[in-house]
Amino acid sequence: MKKIKLGLIYGGRSGEHEISVRSAQSVLKALDRERYDVREFFISKEGKWAPHPILPEPGSNPDLDVVFPLMHGTFGEDGTMQGLLELAALPYVGAGVLASAVSMDKAVMKRLCEAAGLPIVEYAVWDRQHRDFTNASSPFAFPVFVKPANLGSSVGISKAKNEDEFRAAVSMATRFDHKIVVERGVTGREFECSVLGGRPATAATPCEILPSREFYDYEDKYLLDKAKIELPARLTLEQTAEIQRLAVGCFEAVGCEGMGRVDFLMETSTGRIYVNEINTIPGFTSISMYPKMWEYSGIAYSALLDRLIDLALERAATRHELSYSL
Ligand SMILES: Nc1ncnc2c1ncn2[C@@H]1O[C@H](COP(=O)(O)OP(=O)(O)O)[C@@H](O)[C@H]1O
Ligand SMILES: [Mg+2]
Repeated sequence: MKKIKLGLIYGGRSGEHEISVRSAQSVLKALDRERYDVREFFISKEGKWAPHPILPEPGSNPDLDVVFPLMHGTFGEDGTMQGLLELAALPYVGAGVLASAVSMDKAVMKRLCEAAGLPIVEYAVWDRQHRDFTNASSPFAFPVFVKPANLGSSVGISKAKNEDEFRAAVSMATRFDHKIVVERGVTGREFECSVLGGRPATAATPCEILPSREFYDYEDKYLLDKAKIELPARLTLEQTAEIQRLAVGCFEAVGCEGMGRVDFLMETSTGRIYVNEINTIPGFTSISMYPKMWEYSGIAYSALLDRLIDLALERAATRHELSYSL
C-alpha cells in the first residue's frame, strides 16, 4: 500500500504554542510509520515556518496528501489556518473554516447553541466597538465570569464577586479582545466530553475536572498539576447520556467536523447541565483528556489518529463532488 503523505503543523503564534508542541510530540510518536510518511511543519511564536510554509496555490504542495493542523487558539484553531488549507485544496483534519471560527468565538458559539435549543448559562455580549462599558455594572448577580470572546486556556478570564472585581475583570478581558462575554457563575461541577465526527458523530464517556483553585484557570490547566480528573465521571447513567447527547448537539450546532471536546458545567442547586464551550483542536498529548476519553471508550490513541485522518480524506472526497461554478 502506498503511504499517505501527512503534514503535521504545530507550534504557532498563540499563547498555546507550547501545548501544541507537546501535542505534536505525542502524535509524532504514535503515528503508524508503515501507513504515513510524515512531514513536519513547525511555526515559531513569531509565525515563521520551518522548513518551509504550505503554499496557498492548489497543487503547489505535491508532498502532501492530507494535513493535521495541531495548533490551539488564535491562528491555528480559529479558521485562519483552515482557510489557508482550503485555498491550497489540501484535505485536513478537524473542523472547517466556519466551525473553527465560530467555536473560537464564545459569543457566536453560545448563540448557535441557544438556537439549537441547548442549555446555555445566562450571558451578555459586550463589544467595545459598539459601546463604552468601562464603568458598567454587572448584568447578573455575583459571582460572574468575564471572558474575552476569542481566546482559550482561560487567558483573560476572571471570576468577579463584587462590582470592584467586576470592573477589574472587564478591564482584564478587554486587554485580549474588544468583544467580551459576561456570564452568570455556576456553582457546581465541571465535565468534558470528547466527540468524534462521522455519520453520526459519537460521544465518548465524559470525565470530570476537579480544579484545585477557584476555577479551572491557566495555572491550574498547565502549571500546577494539581487539578484532578475523574474518568469516568461519577454520574448516573441518565446524566452521562444527557452530557453525551448535548456534546453531539453542540458539535452539530456549530457545524464541527472530525473532533471536538465539549465542556460542561453542572449546577449543584438545580442539577442543571449547561454547555460551556467547544474546543475544535483540543489538547492532544498522550495524557490530554480528548484522547484519554476515547481510550477509555475503546479507541486507542493511534487508532484515533487513523480515524481522524480517514475522516479528513473522506470529507475531501465528498467535497470533490461539489461544484463551485456552473
Ligand atoms: N459561567 C461559569 N460558571 C462557573 N465557572 C465557569 C463559568 N465559565 C467559566 N468557568 C470556569 O472558567 C474556566 C475557563 O472558562 P472557559 O469558558 O472554558 O474558557 P477557555 O476557553 O479559556 O477554556 C472553566 O473551565 C471553568 O472552570
Ligand atoms: Mg475551557
